Amino acid sequence: MKKKIIKILNKRFYKPISCLTAYSSSVAKILDGRVDMILIGDSLGTTLYNMKNTQGVTLEMMKIHGRIVNKNISSSVTVLDMPYKTYSNKSVALKNAKKLLEFTKVKMLKIEVNKNNLDVLEYLSNKGINMIAHIGVTPQSFKDFRKIKIVGKTHKEKKNLVNLALHVENAGAKCILLECISREAAKEITSKVKIPTIGIGSSKFCDGQVLVFDDFINIDDNIKMPRFVKNYLNFAQIAKKAVKNFDNEVKIGKFPSNKYSYK
Ligand code: KIV
Repeated sequence: MKKKIIKILNKRFYKPISCLTAYSSSVAKILDGRVDMILIGDSLGTTLYNMKNTQGVTLEMMKIHGRIVNKNISSSVTVLDMPYKTYSNKSVALKNAKKLLEFTKVKMLKIEVNKNNLDVLEYLSNKGINMIAHIGVTPQSFKDFRKIKIVGKTHKEKKNLVNLALHVENAGAKCILLECISREAAKEITSKVKIPTIGIGSSKFCDGQVLVFDDFINIDDNIKMPRFVKNYLNFAQIAKKAVKNFDNEVKIGKFPSNKYSYK
């Protein structure tokens, strides 16, 4: 494992891990060196391509976005999602993982894990691939995102999640992403595993936090955001004002002035 990944993922030198998503070169340049990890998530299907869910995201899409983001990163650790149905069994998973790694050169891959595909995670890890396991709410299993709800609230759900996290660790994952997991379950998982946990909608009791960049800057203010999303910037509002200003300046002949014209 490369030094940088070892440093970030070492729980003994604990410093909470920060992670944001990026799908483009411009966002990659903004994030590089400012967060520990950059995730080229398959959330690009819903945020960028206006898909209803992430099931339509293809290997080609992840290859293209993964490569362009990774090319513009020199400091942060890059993580790429393996899309829906590209890791349905061990051999398919390895073939596709190699394609993604060779083409994009990202440092880590992430797959959505449940008790039925731990063998795939173990197989990829044993092949020397730095794997992140995504558990809890796993969006690739949902056609309808409205059906998504927090997990790990009941005793049984919590026990199952803790067990799954321990299996994931045994299978060789370097890190676990916890999505929409109750506070108590996230706390217990984080205290029981030796690898770091990164949460989204899973409370402060994780070793790190991830947000989708487009949500973080509120690029689309028509979408109702889940409770766990904090808007660090109101980009939609700022951009709309700027667009109005541009439209007005064009109409009154103020733009382009001499400053913005060639002689
Ligand atoms: O695809 C993605 O952006 C993700 C986040 C929800 C963490 O997996």
